[in-house]
Amino acid sequence: MLLEDKNTTKEVLELINRFNNSSPETGLLFLSVLAEQKNGFDLSHVIRVQEIARRVAEVLTLPDAEIIGKAAACHDVGKLGIPKELLQLDRELLKWEFDVIKRHPVLGAEIIEGISTVVKRQNKFLQYAREIALWHHEKCDGTGYPHGLTSKEIPIHVKITTVVDIFDALTSWRPYKFPWDVNAALTYLEENAEKFDADVLKAFKEVVNDILKETEKTLVTTHAHLK
Ligand SMILES: [Fe+2]
Ligand SMILES: [Fe+2]
Repeated sequence: MLLEDKNTTKEVLELINRFNNSSPETGLLFLSVLAEQKNGFDLSHVIRVQEIARRVAEVLTLPDAEIIGKAAACHDVGKLGIPKELLQLDRELLKWEFDVIKRHPVLGAEIIEGISTVVKRQNKFLQYAREIALWHHEKCDGTGYPHGLTSKEIPIHVKITTVVDIFDALTSWRPYKFPWDVNAALTYLEENAEKFDADVLKAFKEVVNDILKETEKTLVTTHAHLK
């Protein structure tokens, strides 16, 4: 596939930046959408993660809520570097297969570092996006990957993305599982509370309750699958 090679990714970014109104943000979002497609998902996961992460950040009164949402949408950009055949397996993964997939956070951080180099720019969006790509599979109790960080080492924007990403994956269809209902997914998060930030979890539940109330009023919505 064209974009599996990191150098090719750089070339695509350079091409995008020759156009007016382009930016590292749109370039990275474009690559993240391609990564989701390679994973076999449609755009809805990226859209929901962006929106829910922003709302959780707002409930936590973080000043960069908008940037956090956009950076969260790019969490899996590193899957561009993982073979499609592994990403789309519909059975439990063998250990070596999971080991290859577990490389996507480091690959994602490298892609974003490549973007910063190409555009000769570093800003908060690129900083947050890099940290989220690199650490969104870390857990507060130190059981995550790639670095086994603990709670105090994980930035708040990463902790938000982790909770939102796991919840959305649980409540969505995947080739290897049916969607869980909202209560089952919330129970899973509560039963594994030591893995997540307590304040983030509390804010997240508030946002999910708000979304459920909103979807009662509007039938057609991005979050209709939560009903
Ligand atoms: Fe991931
Ligand atoms: Fe995801």
